Amino acid sequence: MRLANKVALVTGAAGPMGLGVAKRFAEEGASVIITDVSGRRLEAAVEEITPLLAPGAKVHAHRASVLVEAEVDELLASSREHFDRVDVLINVVGGLFIDAKYTPVLEVSEERWDGCFRVNLKGIFYLVRKLAPGMLARKWGKIVNVSSVEYAGAAGHADYGAAKAGVTSLTRSLAEELAPHINVNCIAPGIIRTTAIRDVGEDVAREFEQKNLMKRMGEPLDIANAALFFSNDESSYVTGVTLPVSGGLWPAL
Ligand SMILES: NC(=O)c1ccc[n+]([C@@H]2O[C@H](COP(=O)([O-])OP(=O)(O)OC[C@H]3O[C@@H](n4cnc5c(N)ncnc54)[C@H](O)[C@@H]3O)[C@@H](O)[C@H]2O)c1
Repeated sequence: MRLANKVALVTGAAGPMGLGVAKRFAEEGASVIITDVSGRRLEAAVEEITPLLAPGAKVHAHRASVLVEAEVDELLASSREHFDRVDVLINVVGGLFIDAKYTPVLEVSEERWDGCFRVNLKGIFYLVRKLAPGMLARKWGKIVNVSSVEYAGAAGHADYGAAKAGVTSLTRSLAEELAPHINVNCIAPGIIRTTAIRDVGEDVAREFEQKNLMKRMGEPLDIANAALFFSNDESSYVTGVTLPVSGGLWPAL
């Protein structure tokens, strides 16, 4: 029960990755606040999480876009009706904006460029600004951001690579500004079996599997276990790092 009596907020928690984190955290004793733009899938997530909760722990679900400040405020107001604090923040929301097709920078539209930076960074900005003051006052907090191995540079996904490099940079800046009581770390996933990957087809999936040293696709649980490490005091001397969880696929162009 590494997260006994802790309250964790997980964004994007109706998708496989965020849901995997929320379930793993519930197994370790945490109460979880889950949020997503999809209210319908959030209801299904509550069904999956509830049986895993420790006695006294709770799950609270609230539909919101983390990119809209007023909705983030509503999310936090509704959370305060159930919990007096948030100890752990896991920022999962992000992704390739519009589509995942190989698109050279010369062909990336301004809409895609701006959208990609917004979806990968704005929610972290809002949530950290609203939750870190409470963590600082209580002298305990953990923040985990989700980047990608593509942060090192990604031809055809340059917008995404640059936005995810922004996530790793923001992680380091926050680690320094919020030390010593808040640890801020980052996970850089390789290919993980989520909604984005589920539809690529078997051939592409097999190609992905061959690209990493473990010769398999990553599972949401692989990310959840890394997030768990960063969210409890087993990692209290670790801050500002970006951990690839990628089967050995190293961040590189
Ligand atoms: N899947 C991968 O292989 C992979 C690889 C590297 C990095 N990542 C990163 O992992 C994270 C999750 O990836 P995914 O999309 O594959 O996961 P996912 O399929 O688990 O779903 C993400 C969830 O986020 C929700 N969401 C999207 N925009 C939102 C918003 N504005 N507010 C609230 N919720 C919102 C979606 O409804 C969805 O349920 C992203 O940051 C992504 O960039 C994924």
